[in-house]
Amino acid sequence: MTTVVVVGTQWGDEGKGKVTDYLASSADVVARYQGGNNAGHTIMIENKKYALTLIPSGIFSGNKTCVIGNGVVVNPQALVDEIAYVQNNGFSTEHLVISDRAHVIMPYHMLLDAWQEEQRGDTKIGTTRKGIGPAYVDKFGRSGIRMCDLVDEKNLEHTIRSVVQEKNKTFVGGYGSAPIQPEPLVEQCRAWAKILRPYVRDASVVLNDAIDNGAHVLCEGAQGVMLDVDHGTYPYVTSSNPIAGGVCTGLGIGPTRIDHVIGVAKAYTTRVGDGPFPTELNNEIAHQIRERGFEYGTVTGRPRRIGWIDTVVLRHARRVSGITGLSLNSLDVLSGLDEVRICTHYECDGVRIASYPARQEDVYACTPVYETLPGWTEDITGVRAFDQLPRTTQQYVHRVCALSHIPLAMFSVGRNREQTHLVQQLFSARPIGTHTSVG
Ligand code: GDP
Ligand code: IMO
Ligand code: MG
Repeated sequence: MTTVVVVGTQWGDEGKGKVTDYLASSADVVARYQGGNNAGHTIMIENKKYALTLIPSGIFSGNKTCVIGNGVVVNPQALVDEIAYVQNNGFSTEHLVISDRAHVIMPYHMLLDAWQEEQRGDTKIGTTRKGIGPAYVDKFGRSGIRMCDLVDEKNLEHTIRSVVQEKNKTFVGGYGSAPIQPEPLVEQCRAWAKILRPYVRDASVVLNDAIDNGAHVLCEGAQGVMLDVDHGTYPYVTSSNPIAGGVCTGLGIGPTRIDHVIGVAKAYTTRVGDGPFPTELNNEIAHQIRERGFEYGTVTGRPRRIGWIDTVVLRHARRVSGITGLSLNSLDVLSGLDEVRICTHYECDGVRIASYPARQEDVYACTPVYETLPGWTEDITGVRAFDQLPRTTQQYVHRVCALSHIPLAMFSVGRNREQTHLVQQLFSARPIGTHTSVG
């Protein structure tokens, strides 16, 4: 049995969905450990595009157990819609598990998210307005509603009424808005619970039993290290822990059960939302990369900001997530550039800065320092193995790995499953014909 974690190393949208979908064929269980429907994971199968926000990207790989862990915040309507979406596309959700301890995003969390963003004015975070921050605030403030509460028919009304009474103190008193009416919310919750109840279980038990029985487990992160609430570009972050450590708290499995951590990076960098981005480009190259890479947000449709790859960021990601292998994606998007650049470190007042500063003001004061390499003009989308890549592409990949201190595990040259290639074996081999059943 092997447990592999897929973690974003940049500011999200690195291609975690695609990597997870690719690796899922070797796994028995695929589990999301944090975030919510702020995530947008794209998967291309036989030229058909799928997008998921909550259900793990293993759902398109046959009878895999797909777990939404306790660390995820679940918007019930989004999940109900996504279950229907998966089913309508001809895939089963029979083996979907939703943790009974996952917190629920309520409609008032989305209202709060929007209001708080408006109040921030020029210093807005640029959130997805999906209510993620307010839902995690309630979780840590111990006033959240969990999946086990949502599906508890007997006590649901009482739970909602007492939470709404508290919320209305802020809504009416603080924001001067109309009070939340508990009755329609209770009815809405009942309708969600009816659909979601069959999936709700103790996910930690499911996962630990699976590992004990020899299952291969794949853990899918959302967002990326630089959006981590502890280790990202605070306050321009999300409200959870996308780093690999989030697996333990967000799934209820111990650190001793993790074998590999695959850090996913694009061959360049993107960011949606506000906040510092040292290697950002605002020129024709950025435009070219955005158009070639379809760099528009999966969730909000916003154009993504574009920049060169930053190995200060990759070293930071490796350090805080214990990354063992790199999946370098979207190499094809860089084809056609005369030269490509890699940020090696930053400089501030002539001083070399090799690790990512905590204060955003210090980041703004830094200048990125680049190494320039020759680019490649070949169409590499049909490449099937590393040694088929042009020499200059190989040189670029080697240099990124060397500067980030992460060995190459995978790379990709297009959006489809077949354009993703494994360099390092991750899951341990099992005797042919054996199958691990997950209860
Ligand atoms: P995630 O949030 O990390 O799962 O990433 P997204 O799905 O939001 O964004 C990644 C985008 O890059 C998607 O549109 C993918 O289809 C696309 N993508 C992933 N890998 C490659 C690749 O190797 N080449 C190209 N051209 N696109 C890729
Ligand atoms: P995936 O999983 C890219 C960004 C938002 C905003 C900040 C906080 O697809 O990589 P939030 O709504 O979480 O409170 O917004 O985080 N953000 C993402 N950016 N990819 C994501 O997910 C993101 N999820 C949140 O744009 O800057
Ligand atoms: Mg995304």
